[in-house]
Amino acid sequence: MTVDKTKLSYRNKIILAPMVRVGTLPMRLLALEYGADIVYTEELIDLKMIKAKRRINDVLGTIDFVDPSDGSIIFRTCDKEKDKVVLQLGTSDAERALAVGKIVEHDVAGLDINMGCPKEFSIKGGMGVALLSKPDKAVEILKTLVDNLKIPVTCKIRILPTTEDTINLVTKFAATGIAAIGIHCRRKDERPQHQPHPNVIKAVAQAVDIPIIANGGSREIDTYRDIFKFRDRCGVDSIMVARAAQLNVTIFRKEGLLPIFDVIKKYLKLCVDYDNPQSNTKYCVQSMLKELQETPLGKKFLLTQTLHQICNLWDLGDYCYKKQLEYQEKGNFGRREVCPGAIPGDDEETDGPQSKKHKPESETPASSPDILEHNIAFYRANYVEDTSLPKSILHTFASKNFKGVPKYEIQRFDKLFRAICSFDGKKYASTFWEKNKKYAEQGSALVCLLNLGLIEESELIKNGSILR
Ligand SMILES: Cc1cc2nc3c(=O)[nH]c(=O)nc-3n(C[C@H](O)[C@H](O)[C@H](O)COP(=O)(O)O)c2cc1C
Repeated sequence: MTVDKTKLSYRNKIILAPMVRVGTLPMRLLALEYGADIVYTEELIDLKMIKAKRRINDVLGTIDFVDPSDGSIIFRTCDKEKDKVVLQLGTSDAERALAVGKIVEHDVAGLDINMGCPKEFSIKGGMGVALLSKPDKAVEILKTLVDNLKIPVTCKIRILPTTEDTINLVTKFAATGIAAIGIHCRRKDERPQHQPHPNVIKAVAQAVDIPIIANGGSREIDTYRDIFKFRDRCGVDSIMVARAAQLNVTIFRKEGLLPIFDVIKKYLKLCVDYDNPQSNTKYCVQSMLKELQETPLGKKFLLTQTLHQICNLWDLGDYCYKKQLEYQEKGNFGRREVCPGAIPGDDEETDGPQSKKHKPESETPASSPDILEHNIAFYRANYVEDTSLPKSILHTFASKNFKGVPKYEIQRFDKLFRAICSFDGKKYASTFWEKNKKYAEQGSALVCLLNLGLIEESELIKNGSILR
């Protein structure tokens, strides 16, 4: 079968550049809505992606690539971006890169190899700019992908010390059959505040035939028109924008920038719709607020701990609450999938997010018959004051009633934890495995409070700690 790799054209395109933490689903969808033609994901590391299990999430209408060891979402995508999303991979190995390519090739429009990251983590792993000093390895990776994948393959590089070296490298890479090459016009030791070198891109573009995507112009991109000014300085027809889009993604909007608070509100709505993690949402909103973090609203924002609290500041608290409840009722349990043995097999590709497959009993820590158990998850967001935390309530109850101090013993499995709370001669534990020890202790305290009648089951159902 001949493969049509021309479906995604890189000619004449305005692109959202790959950005760690920024380029997750809500931001990519917003960039597309405001006029970007193609959106790159944040860099995803091959070793992580290889382990990922693909799940169709019917509740959110997304395809999720889940880390089976802790239930976290490594990559979430959806139909709306299917023909426009390029997954960027951090890799140093052709076989691993291909394995990832095979996992995602039906869900993304293209695969890009990061050869421009100068961070220590990347270089130590032989990834990012390290590949620029190992061109044979880089060529092997690109060629393997081009020869074996149905989707177009690209790479993103930085310029080399001389223009001639850069032209030679791009010529070598182009010969592998890649569909385009992104060039960040700074050298590996140059930082974002340094002047870019659009003239180098111009020289490369004149010397080679492959589509070149110019990058590195955000210092001089304040408006939509500036995007084209920079593109023209580089003498190419496609450009990718990072920092200017991180600051205000409406940079892609022909009619001009929208006020940042309006953009944040739209972004937050998408975060709710796609159940984006609070930490990622907060990071992106913080990038958009920039110096506005010093305003009264900005200061309130910095104190937020949950998506609901962030949404409240932009009048979306009610929307967030209702949506989260709706998703929970429909079975988007998110973190609830996290339990030892909840590792889906390959045969579960089309299962909903709530499916669980347990490892053989012997591989998970056994429960003891003398432990009172309940499946309760601890959600930090449910407790505003420290004094209302389950452990604090139990501690106060213990001191008032001279019962002795509750003790907590941690059990660990893979990267998950649960605690056994010993109190007044009895032991309590949740069967829900938490991602950290503190939450595990709070979870076991909740089970204890429930058994002692100090907390109502209906309350725990209402706040999502117990599933109906
Ligand atoms: C927050 C942030 C995260 C980034 N993450 C990545 C990444 O994952 N992969 C990558 O190739 N470049 C990454 N970059 C670099 C950008 O893609 C881009 O090359 C650089 O910022 C220069 O473009 P600009 O002038 O438009 O910002 C990142 C940049 C920023 C600001």
